Amino acid sequence: MTERIESIAELRKKLARVKAGGQTIGFVPTMGALHKGHLSLVRLAKKEADFVVVSIFVNPIQFGPKEDYQRYPRNLDKDIALLQELKTDLVFAPSENEMYQTGFTTHINMEGPALGMCGKTRPGHFSGVATVVAKLFNIVQPKIAVFGQKDLQQIAVLKRMVIDLNFDTEIIMAPIIRESDGLAMSSRNEYLTPPERKKALALNRALFIAESAWLEGERDVTKLLNAAAGVLAETPDVHVEYLVAVNPETMQELTGKHEHIAIAIAARVGSTRLIDNLIMG
Ligand code: PAF
Repeated sequence: MTERIESIAELRKKLARVKAGGQTIGFVPTMGALHKGHLSLVRLAKKEADFVVVSIFVNPIQFGPKEDYQRYPRNLDKDIALLQELKTDLVFAPSENEMYQTGFTTHINMEGPALGMCGKTRPGHFSGVATVVAKLFNIVQPKIAVFGQKDLQQIAVLKRMVIDLNFDTEIIMAPIIRESDGLAMSSRNEYLTPPERKKALALNRALFIAESAWLEGERDVTKLLNAAAGVLAETPDVHVEYLVAVNPETMQELTGKHEHIAIAIAARVGSTRLIDNLIMG
C-alpha cells in the first residue's frame, strides 16, 4: 500500500524510521500529471534504492507570471493509483502552505548552466526549480534522486547545485520516454489539440534528422543544427524558441566539431511550449 503524507514533520519522522531500519531512500520529485516517463523514473529509483518516495507538488515559484501554473494538469487520485500499481512506498503531496510558509523569502540563485536556453526565455524558472528541489532534498535526504533527460538543463542545474551546496544525494538521469510516433512524453502534451499534436512531431523529427547525420559521421555542429532547423522550418505553426548544440553536462553552447553534444529544442506549438533533446556521442 502506497502511504500518502502531506506534512513535512510527519514525513521526516517516517523517513527517520526507514533509515534507522537500514534502508536507503530513493526520491523522484514530480509535479504530478504522471505519465509513462515519470513511471520509468520510479522504476529506476526502485532499482537503485530500498525505499522510494515520490513527491507531487506543482511548484508555483518556477512558473513565470504569464505561464501555465493555474492551468497545469492536476489529478492526485489518478497519480496515486498509478504509483500504487508500481508499489511505490510513499507519496509526499504537500500543500502550497506547507512548502512555502508566510514570509518565505529565500531563493537559490544560479549562474552557469542556468543562464542559457530555458534560463533566457523563462527568467526565474531555474531559481524556482533549484529552490524547491533543495527544500525537498533537505526534507527527504535521499541517497539518490532520479530526473528525466527530457529536462536536460534542469539536470545540469541540479547537479551543479548538489556540488555547490554539498548535498549528499546522487542525481541519476533516466532516458527520455517517447510515444510510439517519437513525441517525448510530457504532462504538457495534454494541452495539444489533435492537429497540434501532429505538428509537435517536428521536434523529435528534427532531432532524429540531426542524429542520422551524426551517425553518418557528421561532427560539425552548424551542419547538424541546419539539418534540424530545416525540419522545424517546414512545419507551420511551430515557433522555435531555441535550437542549440550544447555540452550535455555544462549546457555551454558549442560551435565547430565535437564528439559529445546534446541538441536541444524549445518550441511553441499553438499555446503549448514543448522541449526535447538528444545526446550524441
Ligand atoms: O521536473 C519537474 O517536474 C519539476 O521541475 C521538479 C523537478 C519536480 C521541481 O518542481
